[in-house]
Amino acid sequence: MSRILAIETSCDETAAAVVEDGRRVLSNAVASQIEIHARYGGVFPEVASRQHILAMLPVAEQALQEARLSPAEVDAIAVTRGPGLPGSLAVGINFAKGLALATGKPLLGINHLEGHIYAAWLHEADQPAPASPEFPLMALLVSGGHTELIFMEDHLRYQRLGSTRDDAAGEAFDKVARMLGLGYPGGPAIQKAAADGDPAVFAFTRPWLKETWDFSFSGLKTAVLRAVREIEAAGRPLPVAHLAASFQVTVVDVLVGKTIKAAEAFEAKSIVVAGGVSANQLLRERITAEAPMPVHIPPLRYCTDNAAMIAAAAHHRLNAGETTPLNFDLKPRWEVS
Ligand code: KG4
Ligand code: ZN
Repeated sequence: MSRILAIETSCDETAAAVVEDGRRVLSNAVASQIEIHARYGGVFPEVASRQHILAMLPVAEQALQEARLSPAEVDAIAVTRGPGLPGSLAVGINFAKGLALATGKPLLGINHLEGHIYAAWLHEADQPAPASPEFPLMALLVSGGHTELIFMEDHLRYQRLGSTRDDAAGEAFDKVARMLGLGYPGGPAIQKAAADGDPAVFAFTRPWLKETWDFSFSGLKTAVLRAVREIEAAGRPLPVAHLAASFQVTVVDVLVGKTIKAAEAFEAKSIVVAGGVSANQLLRERITAEAPMPVHIPPLRYCTDNAAMIAAAAHHRLNAGETTPLNFDLKPRWEVS
């Protein structure tokens, strides 16, 4: 049995969690900075770093307390090494290094994107373990900074098939939300506004990029902007709900269509959808309904940034005999491999 304490501070959530055997969540503490950054309309790096410093110790203490463990009782300490904001990553990494040094426990520096994928294995401590995603699997990773199709033949084996050529899916949600005056973070705001809208009102072109597994969302963002300007120039009120619904369905069509096509082409036995945008209700419903193979999407609290997913990934690395030397450096840019 392994119990891993993980720390995650790559962006604007200070998080700590304890996970048993890479699946069973004993605790999952998250201090969100969303309200603070909402004032700036996005993440303000210096403010994020300062907030991490303030929240790190209480959040880690909370995670250990809820798991009823002392630092000496965990088997290893894991921390997000990248990708992310350097000033944010540094806070979690220094904390984890200090803890590893003080306790003598093995330390693992984990890739944040790998963590998002491993969120698909997590379950609550008081509930039975659901079926694990079956390999080979196709993972769609959609977050604020990434949109990628990753083929996994087995644990820890990644083949990156394609990624976004410009804006990430979550970034597109955030930017379009700003255009529509919906605030930050944009994903949940667009989803909410779209609930009262008709997705067929604006027929935005689907950016298929058919010959590749890549994505592109900046043209769609510009198309929404053009529609907004035309309506404003005509002096008409902005149909925010219709615009939000039409934008959302366009992104979801492309994400669902390409992921299923890739899963079929690579004969995947299952699909995993991960990252903050996998919290999107329409995406969850559509891909689950349309894919011919089982689809695994983490519960909402494990879709957005958290530390339980980092512990889940670390479990497999520890099992494979890996640890990271105490003097490791952060990696602001780091693809899964
Ligand atoms: O994975 P995450 O929490 O942080 C990064 O690693 O980037 O993803 C954050 C992104 C944001 O762009 C946010 O707008 C988006 O996930 N997001 C959503 C939803 N909830 C969060 N996008 C669409 N629909 C949602 N319900
Ligand atoms: Zn993330």
